[in-house]
Amino acid sequence: MGNDVKQQILEILGQTKSLLEDLALSGTHEIPVIPRAEALPRCELPPSGGGQGAAVLCQRESLEEILTDLGDCRRCPLCEGRKNIVFGVGNPQARLVLVGEAPGREEDEKGEPFVGEAGRLLDRILHAMGLGRDQVYICNVEKCRPPGNRDPRLEEIEACEPFLIRQLASIRPSVIVALGKFAAQTLLRDQTSITRLRGTWKDYHGIPLMPTYHPAYLLRNPSGKQEVWEDMKQVLKRLQQSEQG
Ligand code: URA
Repeated sequence: MGNDVKQQILEILGQTKSLLEDLALSGTHEIPVIPRAEALPRCELPPSGGGQGAAVLCQRESLEEILTDLGDCRRCPLCEGRKNIVFGVGNPQARLVLVGEAPGREEDEKGEPFVGEAGRLLDRILHAMGLGRDQVYICNVEKCRPPGNRDPRLEEIEACEPFLIRQLASIRPSVIVALGKFAAQTLLRDQTSITRLRGTWKDYHGIPLMPTYHPAYLLRNPSGKQEVWEDMKQVLKRLQQSEQG
């Protein structure tokens, strides 16, 4: 070892010793060692209203890990009638996640959310926002099709929602859009009508959430498109703000 290297090591050791002495004088007698990633607990969403401030030491799951855990899900009776599990599509690092209700017939056939007529309208809304499917993430509260597209039931939601929560904790988007009454009421634990919920920001575990009308509702009530566009303009503004700082 050359004299220069030895000198550098001695200097580093000297600086480390001084640092440790300073820490001891200021009352620090232990330095926590950051555990290896695999030893960390899974990242959970903080309690709603808890804000984003607290730094949590946790291991972020990937969407693939969550999908693997979901497996050939048999956690509720919807598994009996489904053709495919509809997990979600899009960018795992999306700043915007859109959450719908449950797959319909076409989604069940393809294993992908929002691929039917309502999905084509959703694509047009995203296009008007300057966004493509590859930039956002789209999923549903329920991952399997309810027979005849009936409303989801409590036992199904209880079985399925933990996976949605894990998807959202994995992506940790800047903004969530709840598409329709069912997604908004489920995510917010609030039975207020979608007409009253839509258009104002809510808090979903520290993530701003905008409830708006479901695209299928807009197909039946096109006059609601104006309100959805107002909501989406707010979403775009929020996304821009979050990118700036
Ligand atoms: N409606 C939804 O809520 N989700 C879909 O994936 C399709 C239609």
